[in-house]
Order: sequence, then C-alpha cells, then structure tokens
Amino acid sequence: MSASSFEKLPKRSHYCGQLDASNDGSEVTIMGWVDTRRDHGGLIFIDLRDRKGLVQVVINPQENSLGSAKDLRNEWVVAIKGQVRKRPDGMINKNLGTGEIEVEATEVQVLSEAETPPIGIGDQNVTEALRLKYRYLDLRSETLQSYIISRHKTLQIVRKFLSNNECIEVETPILYKSTPEGARDYLVPSRVNQGQFYALPQSPQTLKQLLMIGGMDRYFQICRCFRDEDLRADRQPEFSQIDIEMSFVDADDVMAMQEELVKVLWKELKSVDIEEFPRMTFHEAMSRFGTDKPDLRNPLELGDISEVVKDCGFKVFDETVARGDVVKCLAVEGAGDLSRAQLDKLTALSKQMGAKGLVWIKSQNGELNSPIAKFFEPDKFKQIFEAAGGKEGGVVFVVADQFEVSCSALSALRIHFGKERNLIDTSRDRFMWVTDFPLFEYSAEEKRWVARHHPFTTCVDEDLDKLVNGESAQFGDLKAKAYDLVCNGYELAGGSVRIHRQNVQAAMFKALGFSEEEVKRQFGFFVEALKYGTPPHGGVAWGLDRLVMLICGTDAIRDVIAFPKTAKATDLMAETPSRVAPEQLLELGVRLSPTAEKSAER
Ligand code: AMO
Ligand code: AMP
Repeated sequence: MSASSFEKLPKRSHYCGQLDASNDGSEVTIMGWVDTRRDHGGLIFIDLRDRKGLVQVVINPQENSLGSAKDLRNEWVVAIKGQVRKRPDGMINKNLGTGEIEVEATEVQVLSEAETPPIGIGDQNVTEALRLKYRYLDLRSETLQSYIISRHKTLQIVRKFLSNNECIEVETPILYKSTPEGARDYLVPSRVNQGQFYALPQSPQTLKQLLMIGGMDRYFQICRCFRDEDLRADRQPEFSQIDIEMSFVDADDVMAMQEELVKVLWKELKSVDIEEFPRMTFHEAMSRFGTDKPDLRNPLELGDISEVVKDCGFKVFDETVARGDVVKCLAVEGAGDLSRAQLDKLTALSKQMGAKGLVWIKSQNGELNSPIAKFFEPDKFKQIFEAAGGKEGGVVFVVADQFEVSCSALSALRIHFGKERNLIDTSRDRFMWVTDFPLFEYSAEEKRWVARHHPFTTCVDEDLDKLVNGESAQFGDLKAKAYDLVCNGYELAGGSVRIHRQNVQAAMFKALGFSEEEVKRQFGFFVEALKYGTPPHGGVAWGLDRLVMLICGTDAIRDVIAFPKTAKATDLMAETPSRVAPEQLLELGVRLSPTAEKSAER
C-alpha cells in the first residue's frame, strides 16, 4: 500500500500454491491476484492466487503499515511479505493444497489495482461469448490453466519422444502455396508481387515429403495449419499438428511408432497403460459402427438384414436389395417405450444424415408395433425383428439405402442412444486404427474422382497396377495405404505411405482429372523433385488440439487453445477479422467487391 516499505519490486520467494506445512515459520514473499477477500471483525483474510494455486493470507489492519489492506478488492495484484504458520486445528481446509497453513502478512504492496471484472474467474454460468471476449480473465481460472499446462507437458513429451526416435524438428514456411487437404485455402496477397497470393498451408504435406527427398530421413514439426472449412466442436480454422514423416518405412513402422507415443503420453500424463490398438478396415468400421471413427466405448453395433428381408414383399426393402444396396439395422434394448414424438425426432435425425426414411419396430408387452407391420405376416415380421437383434421391450431401427448412407444414418442413432442411455464406458480411453480406406471417392458435384486422404497417398501394393494402368471405372475399388488413429470417436491422427515414384504420381494426378498444365502450375516443383532419387516414405499428422482435449477429458477444442476462434472463425477479444485501411488495400492491389463492401459495413 502507499505506506509500504518496498522500494522496488520485491523478489518472489515462493509460488502461493507451493506453500505447505514444511514452510511453517519461514518468511516468504508471494505475489498474485486477490481471489477473495473476507473482513472478519478486525482481521482481513484474503486468498491469494497464482498459477500454482491459492493460499490464505491474514492481515491485521490495526497494524499501522497494513491499515489500507481494507481497500484490497478482487483481482488486485499484490506482493505480500509474511510468515507462514500452521492454521489452528479446527481451521484446516482439506480441499486446498495449502489448507494446513496461512501467511501472516507483515508487508503488503499493491502492484496494480483492478476494476470489477466483467466475468467471474472460472464462472461457468457466463455466456461463452463473454468468456471469449475476456479470454485473458477466463485464462486465470484453474481449469483453463490446467489445460494449457497439460498442453505444454504434452509438447515436452512429444518433442523428447520424437527426438529419441531420430526425428529432426524442422520448420517449414507459412507463406506458401496451396496444399490440397480438402478444405479452402486462406490466401495472403503479396504487396511486392502484385496480383499474386500466398496460401497458408492446410498442412506441410509436400514440404515434409521434400524433406525426405532432401535426405532428412526422419522429420517432425509442431506446426500450425490453416483450413477454411465448416467449424465444429472439434475443429478450428487454425489448429496445430504434430507432423511426422519417415523414410524407408512401411505403414506398420509408422503405426508402431504412434502406438508407442500414445503409451508414453497416457502413462506419463494419466498414469494409464494403453495396451490395445485394434485394427479395423474402413469397411468393417463402417459396417459395424456406421462411421470411420467409431467410439469403441459405445457397445452398440449395427447389423445387416439385407439377406433376411430380400423378397419380403415390402417395396422399399426389396428394391434396395435388388439394386445391390443394403438394409442395415440397429437394435436398442429397453427402448420399446419410445414415444411417437421421440421416434419422429430420430427419423428427422436420420434424414439429416441423408436417409430417405427410418423404419422402427418396437416391442412392448410381447407385441411388435411398427408403421410397416401391416406389410408382413406376423411370423415373418417377428423373424425380421429378431434377426435385427431385437429383444422383448426393445426397439429396432432399419435404414435401406446405399451402404454409406445407411451406415451414417444409423451411426447418428448409435451415438444418440450411447449418450442418452448412458451406455458409454467413460472409465477408459479406447484407441483403434482404421485402415484400407478407399483411395478415391466420387464427387458427384465435380463429376470426378477425388483423393479421400490426399493425392500423395499410395494404394495397397496389389492395387498399384490398376492405379497406373487401370480404367477409371475401377478406381472406386482401390484401397489406400492410409491409416487413421481413432480415440473415443475422434480422428486423432491420420497418415499414409506416399507415392515415391514419379510415374505413379503422374497416374494419380491423371486419375484425379488434373490436366498436365494444372499439375505443372500447382505441383510442378514437387513432381520434378520426385525425379531425382526419392526414398520410399510415409508419415502421419496428429491433431494436437484434439490430443490435448482427450488428455484433459474435455469435449471442446476451444478449451485447450489459449486464444481460440468462434464457430464463425472470429476472435471476439481482438475483434478479428476486421476491416483494413483503404491505403493498405491499394498497396496490395486488392479491391473489395460491392458485396464485400456492404458486408464489411455491418
Ligand atoms: P489430416 O487432414 O487427416 O491429414 O489431418 C491430420 C489431423 O489433424 C487434425 N485436424 C484438425 N484439428 C482441428 N481442427 C481442424 N480443422 C482439423 N483438421 C484436421 C485431425 C486429423 O487427424 N497431411 C496429412 C497427414 C499425413 O498424411 O501425414 C493431414 O493433414 O486430428
Ligand atoms: P412409405 O411406404 O414411403 O410411406 O414408407 C413406409 C415407411 O418406411 C416409413 O416409416 C418410412 O419412414 C420408411 N422408409 C422409407 N424409405 C426408407 C428407407 N430407405 N429406409 C428405411 N425406411 C424407409
């Protein structure tokens, strides 16, 4: 306070949260924020907070030099000199790390005052928008601090692990050229080269491959990636990858190393042994769980009754099977009492996923109830219900459509019931690999094949000839040498073995419908590099933010990023993106369209 004897910033001796009974009797100097302040007839108690926790400070304002301690308010920043003493027996707080002691202040210096903060520190009842606007205040909360610290620890472990595994950390440019990962690019206009643009990397894919051609042998980078795409709870427009590439390896080598990394991370950060990394082909994951990133903690599985309902007389099923499509089902035990309104909601959910309809069959009091029961003999209907896994008192859902549509629609129901019926075993994290993805998928919009992973991924050895010499009509059957690491329903990492021969890369671009001119313009440098001696190589990239989310056990990616963006890709604190001065645009040779002008005025 003004009467303080401190002449300059005193030296901190301890963190607040570090003190315990072993410090009893010592003289300490602590610094931090006033978390709470209580006036107790004569004595003032404050909880002082820093990154390591809280400690109770007792101030006697009767002492002359401490009189103005009465002015202290929440979030003021103070330095306190005092003596640690054990609390009287009845006053011990077992919920606090420092709960056995308190600091009796001898000097108090206000380092800065604070206005009443617009949000309570750690107050979950404040809207997220307000918390994001005052992110620096929210960051003072114990929860967010623990997440950011876990992120730091994760990075320390990852760097050490990868360095020990012969990977060299190399930085690659941010101002660069478009790398196709399936999203839109963020572009940066060049002032010096008017009319030309850099693209921010969606990933350093071509660069890390060029590092292999450059003889680096093994590389890693903790890199920022930029993707202009629809955002979700687990997606940000800029996010971080742990990016890895290795020479002279096959898929198994890359996967084995990632399993080791998971084991080390979970052991060191969660004291948990992860043993199992089951592998499943894309087709098996889709058939059984309806998705290529199944949450194995959810015990529900899809079934297939195409054979059972073939020629059953119900047109929707008959026609589906005749077309070569599938009739998939999901049975949920004990859900036979769903109301009509609930069933309508589920129908709407499956339609959102592209299904044309949803059949449900409920079993209640020994009777089957369904809008399609009238089309069947009762015995046949019961047989279908049972073949779909239906049990007395339960319900069966059926979708008849193309394989991926049927699967995705029922996957949404599987996820819904997993949560709603509390079926998810949250006691452990479940990892798995998904492999053998289709190399291509057909884009009806663009009327061409597109790479399911990216155009540098090679196919399984037995399909190589078809890729180089085959007919376009067969491309849908080709399998990629690609693998995704999935944990609890999140795609945590994805990678592949790469094409390392120029003729195969050329065939790939051709299959994707690129003209030679386009290949030259976009990837000329890369295709040329493949000519001069390329080692076989492969790699993987982890979503670092998702990894930290899983380690921290939160389901919001924003929680583990210090300054995250909203679902509209804005930063509410800095209010960005924002307009720029007309002179700046002029310098860049960029002019806004009338629509953009109008939109920016809003
Ligand atoms: P992919 O596109 O699968 O592969 O990305 C790798 C991992 O990055 C994470 N991720 C994201 N995390 C947060 N927000 C996003 N918008 C976002 N997009 C992706 C996911 C994903 O598994 N170059 C290839 C890797 C390779 O082949 O080596 C790539 O980027 O966790
Ligand atoms: P309809 O004969 O079109 O009135 O359909 C009868 C029932 O079948 C309704 O409950 C629809 O929701 C359902 N249905 C229609 N198409 C499909 C489909 N492709 N898969 C599953 N159920 C469907």
